[in-house]
Amino acid sequence: MKKEIEGNLLSPLPVALVGTLIEGRPNYCVIGYMSPFDFGRHIFFSLYKKRYTRVGIQRNKTFSVNIPSEDLMREVNLCGSKSGRDFDKSKLFDTFYGELKSAPMIRQCPLNMECRVTDILDYDPNEGIIGRVVKSYADSGLVKDSIVDMKKARLIIWTIGGDFSYYRVGERIVLDEATAQ
Ligand SMILES: Cc1cc2nc3c(=O)[nH]c(=O)nc-3n(C[C@H](O)[C@H](O)[C@H](O)COP(=O)(O)O)c2cc1C
Repeated sequence: MKKEIEGNLLSPLPVALVGTLIEGRPNYCVIGYMSPFDFGRHIFFSLYKKRYTRVGIQRNKTFSVNIPSEDLMREVNLCGSKSGRDFDKSKLFDTFYGELKSAPMIRQCPLNMECRVTDILDYDPNEGIIGRVVKSYADSGLVKDSIVDMKKARLIIWTIGGDFSYYRVGERIVLDEATAQ
């Protein structure tokens, strides 16, 4: 038997911190409604128009995506509840830049990407922000033969569908030969 549930059940999703540069200062905002598409060459995320982050997106047409590990839970909580309009979130992290000088990235996050905005979709009161991934970075301790060890990165995931909780990434599923066929 099935029970009808209200809302979207495509879950869990990664927790990401979107970085923008506003008035010369880095700002970091938690975005949960985010997805790679176009085989990972582009990223989509949903941004409520009132977010301070929108100012940086509109002005620079760039942003960064920083994937935190669970050690950064306190900072994630602050970046997801306080607006850069009235709280300086740049002080929470060390910032570095790659190719795009207006897409600040968080050194303490194990994985980072810098992106250039290619499209903005109006879904009032939200916008759909689409960016092309320009460059990606990972902490060297996580990389072996150009492959990132996602388990070691200790990423945070969160759930929608009414649950709205944070979780750890679980065990890797290894297919045996019989299952793989
Ligand atoms: C788990 C989680 C997911 C969130 N996802 C989004 C999102 O997808 N889009 C959005 O606009 N805000 C989202 N927020 C809210 C923003 O992170 C929050 O309002 C933040 O303070 C905005 O910062 P800013 O005003 O400096 O841009 C989320 C918050 C949390 C805790």
